[in-house]
This record gives sequence, C-alpha cells and structure tokens, in this order.
Amino acid sequence: MIRDAELEARALAVQSRAYAPYSKFNVGCAVRMSGQVFEGVNVENASYPVCVCAERNAIAAAVLAGAHTLEAVAVCTSATPPSSPCGACRQVLAEFAPDPTVVTITAINPDGEHRSWTLAELLPASFSGRELPK
Ligand code: THU
Repeated sequence: MIRDAELEARALAVQSRAYAPYSKFNVGCAVRMSGQVFEGVNVENASYPVCVCAERNAIAAAVLAGAHTLEAVAVCTSATPPSSPCGACRQVLAEFAPDPTVVTITAINPDGEHRSWTLAELLPASFSGRELPK
C-alpha cells in the first residue's frame, strides 16, 4: 500500500498537542483532502461523552477551508500496534470519500510502527447519503 510520508510526519508532529487530560491517550491526525493537508488532535472534556476525536477535528479543519474530497489519512497514537480510527470516525471519514477503496488510512506510532488499510476495509457495506431518499 502506498504511504504518504508528509501526512505521517504531520500526524506525528501534532500528536503532542492533543488535549487528553482524562484518557492520557494523545492522538494526532492528518488528512489529505482536495490536495491539501489538514491536522487535528483529540480534544477531551470533563463531560466525557463530549470528547472529540482527532480524525473528526481534522475533517472539520478541512471543511472549514472548503476541502471536501478525502484522499488519505494518517493517525498517530502511542499504541502498539498502532491503533485504527474508531467507528464514529470511520463513518465521518466515509462522508467525504467518493470511493472508499482508494482512501488509504495509515496508523503510526512514535516508535516507527505502522499499519495501513483502505477505508473500504475498515468500514465495509457502509451507510451513505446514497441510501437516503432523493
Ligand atoms: N480517540 C481519537 O482521537 N481517535 C480515535 O480514533 C480513537 C479515540 C481519542 C478519543 C479520546 O480522547 C481518547 O482517544 C481515548 O478514547
């Protein structure tokens, strides 16, 4: 699977900026959308269900800039093996992936380990706006 070195470096670089005082699980994410790179980190809250994942914050940054076409994702945690995006984030990523079979998701950690999937592998038979009435 093709890796995106710039994307992985950006996810690693922002991981330490996560606001995760409750879980202590810092997550950095970089998404390539419409040819540009956007970053996000997880932002937690004392009211735990309000926590927002790094992937969704990266998507929000892209949407704010007008970029809507997801091409690739890199997510950096300190987990071994590197951990994959949660189910909610997979659904949010899919919203911006016209063809999930060509969107690569690479999970990395600061020790240099990595795992890669396509979005279609992580979220098979996904629900999308195509299911909704016209
Ligand atoms: N988290 C992410 O940022 N991305 C994921 O895909 C999994 C979980 C965050 C949410 C919470 O702040 C912490 O990691 C522990 O679940």
